[in-house]
Amino acid sequence: MTESLLDDLQTSVAEAIAAVTDAADIDALADIERSSLGKKGFVVSAKKAVGTLDPELRKSTGQAINEAKVQLDEAIAARRSELGRSARSAQYEGERMDLTEVPAGASVGHAHIVTQTWDVLEDLFVGMGFRVVEGPHIETDWHNFDALNIPKGHPARDGFDTMYVNHGEPGSTLLRTHTSPVQIRTMLDQEPPIYVIAPGRVFRRDTADSTHMPVFHQIEGLVIDRNISLADLAGTIDAFVTAYFGAEVKSRLRPNYFPFTEPSAEFDIQRSDGSWLEMGGCGMVHPNVLRAGGIDPEEWSGFAFGFGIDRLALMKYGVDDLRDMFANDQRFLAQF
Ligand code: DAH
Repeated sequence: MTESLLDDLQTSVAEAIAAVTDAADIDALADIERSSLGKKGFVVSAKKAVGTLDPELRKSTGQAINEAKVQLDEAIAARRSELGRSARSAQYEGERMDLTEVPAGASVGHAHIVTQTWDVLEDLFVGMGFRVVEGPHIETDWHNFDALNIPKGHPARDGFDTMYVNHGEPGSTLLRTHTSPVQIRTMLDQEPPIYVIAPGRVFRRDTADSTHMPVFHQIEGLVIDRNISLADLAGTIDAFVTAYFGAEVKSRLRPNYFPFTEPSAEFDIQRSDGSWLEMGGCGMVHPNVLRAGGIDPEEWSGFAFGFGIDRLALMKYGVDDLRDMFANDQRFLAQF
């Protein structure tokens, strides 16, 4: 009796395991599970039959049945996860989309002219050995002004129509009025030599007109190394103007005043009609600014420059009114 019970069970388990391995899908697997381990399955019937055995055989037979059940359970679980995996990959395959596919004749759009100009500037300066860095739009008053040698009460502060942010001490936090605070962040962040540019968005309390926007873009340059002179600054500006506008366009430096540079200059470029156009500011980094950035002015010197990206885009694409660039009118944008 015991012999045949265990023999039958073993045969049934072997058959069931073979069927499990062959099960084509989750439903087929569930059928096998039901007929083997379910209420009317052979494992349950075998367990019931144990009660009819001689008492001394019950324990070992019961154990053999449990082992068979465990074996079957494991085979089913393994096949279930295998089927699940292939069902999922079939689903993923079916849901895959070719995002590079563009319907014939569709308009794909293009980068905004400010973005195009920004990209060209980055490429150009990276080609000259500069690294691109970024700073936050919301700045501290210290990074935006004090550290740049513009202490509280300094008249240069009036030149920046600053938008303050309601955070911390009144007047301590603002929307950066220029990209120059990134100079300070970079100096505090890394050891010289430093060769970086920092393009980004800046904010001023300005009314929009043909040449002003309350939100616009600047690019800042900072070089700190040993024995950097005004000649290096002039050479860099000249190399940049030639690369951006072409060899026929000349540049010049004109003395000016900025609190964060000494000496300071405005740099201009010459248009085809011979007239000069103001491009941006530059100069030798003021010792106070180096010190604020944790750099010893006895050992290191440097130059900085900053100019408007929007202004450059305006010139390059012959746009008359700055406001047109930000009105998001497709008829305007599609021209470039
Ligand atoms: N931050 C100045 C502005 O927004 C521009 C500028 C002038 C940047 C001279 C510089 C610089 O780095 O050296 O008006």
